[in-house]
Amino acid sequence: MNLTQVKEAAQFIQQNINLEPSVGLILGSGLGVLAEEIQNPTTISYTDIPHFPESTVSGHKGQLVLGELEGRQVIAMQGRFHYYEGYDMKQVTFPVRVMKELGVETLFVTNAAGGINESFQPGNLMVITDHINNMGDSPLIGSNDNEMGPRFPDMSEAYDRDLIKHAKQSADRLDLKVQEGVYVGNTGPAYETGAEVRMLRTLGGDAVGMSTVPEVMVANHAGIRVLGISCISNMAAGILDQPLTHDEVIETTAQVREDFLGFVKEMLKTLPV
Ligand code: HPA
Repeated sequence: MNLTQVKEAAQFIQQNINLEPSVGLILGSGLGVLAEEIQNPTTISYTDIPHFPESTVSGHKGQLVLGELEGRQVIAMQGRFHYYEGYDMKQVTFPVRVMKELGVETLFVTNAAGGINESFQPGNLMVITDHINNMGDSPLIGSNDNEMGPRFPDMSEAYDRDLIKHAKQSADRLDLKVQEGVYVGNTGPAYETGAEVRMLRTLGGDAVGMSTVPEVMVANHAGIRVLGISCISNMAAGILDQPLTHDEVIETTAQVREDFLGFVKEMLKTLPV
């Protein structure tokens, strides 16, 4: 991945649209429905974009949707790239680089995650306050292009404090109870063992998933401010006496669909620029 490839991808997208998106949305498992709310949409399949990888997981569509949402020009990823699919970290985060090139200043990242915090319930939405990179890899390893960001980027406010506050105020206005907490990024694709979940709780994790961390690192490197929302689709392994399935994850995200849509739309509508 280099800046030339990023520019080629961005140029291709620009040729197909007539807007300047300032907000990027990465829609996680089962959460792609948000893209259907976008007005005057232009849809671009990942397969058509130069240098874009292809998405392979069910529940992920694999296309960009560009248009207007709550008066904002947005670019949404309906489906993302996961490390467990075999992409390297640079491929996983390539779309974030392209968003930056297109002028995106604010990124909403969303995901489905298992609840580690025992006060959470499936169906809760969690504002991500911070993360733990438990993937054993980083998208920033390798030579650094100073045009894209600093060699040693600060991660002390990986999730923008003002946006966290904004998210909580937006939830209050909607009378929506949201959790907040620390997201742990694991590689997957296996769900955790009960022992691993206990370990992650000891380490300070509130929710665990298989995405988000690489994209957020690159967004920070690129100077994009980030807001993260997890949909707690299930309690993490070992908490309830039942096995975890991807079907359960998709089912729960479908149940919270209206809350999720309303929440993101309210945040967009009142987003401080
Ligand atoms: N673990 C990891 N990733 C997940 C989970 C989980 O319990 N639920 C949804 N994504």
